[in-house]
Amino acid sequence: MRQSLVVGNWKMNGTLATNKLLAEGIVAGLNASSESAACAVCVPFVYLPSIGDIVKGSRLGLGAQNIANKASGAFTGEVAASMLVEFGCQYALVGHSERRTYYGDTNQTVAERFCQAQEQGITPILCIGETLAQRENNQTFAVVEEQLDVVIALAGIHAFSKAVIAYEPVWAIGTGKTATDEQAQEVHHHIRSYIAAKDQTIADKIQILYGGSAKPDNAKGLFAMPDIDGGLIGGASLDAESFLQICHSI
Ligand code: 13P
Repeated sequence: MRQSLVVGNWKMNGTLATNKLLAEGIVAGLNASSESAACAVCVPFVYLPSIGDIVKGSRLGLGAQNIANKASGAFTGEVAASMLVEFGCQYALVGHSERRTYYGDTNQTVAERFCQAQEQGITPILCIGETLAQRENNQTFAVVEEQLDVVIALAGIHAFSKAVIAYEPVWAIGTGKTATDEQAQEVHHHIRSYIAAKDQTIADKIQILYGGSAKPDNAKGLFAMPDIDGGLIGGASLDAESFLQICHSI
């Protein structure tokens, strides 16, 4: 049985004050109820120390939204895995579609970030998914396979025993256009089968999250699908109540 996981991706939102309130609200809600998936929030780098203090000792995990593809050195603007560990980061998103689209992340640099996270004991959340044009050209499976292949080639399939995959169809991110339960399940199942062909045990164990306009009112249906183990939540994670509802709908 796989443990469910719901991760909030705050993206570039909030202020120190509002983000502290948000984290406090989520922690309080999780403390008040024992029935919930494992939960974490991926916060902007600068807020890691403050949010880290708030989540310490709670059931809310802490993550970053990106991680350097090098260990240290002259890489202006990057944040190393070893630095994230100092602030209690347990997770790091790697290869989010916004990083791939706007900041030039490639399958290769994403694979390097994945390895850097693991070298420091941070669990990478590898984000993969197709654009609308790729879906319409029936390339969805090929796209996610290629995104996986480059990481498998660099890190090895066994590295996936300490990783999470997030399937985020690019056309569903921030658009209000969620994949249907069946559309998401189809791709999740394909991803799990693809990994199973290389290692059945890892495929059975790995958590595959769905991301893309997931909300309290559609989370239950998505999470009921056999290969969907939780969610990576953008907009709806910016409100403590709606994030908690999603965490509780597992
Ligand atoms: P939305 O939930 O706002 O569509 O964002 C999804 C996402 O990109 C999470 O990483």
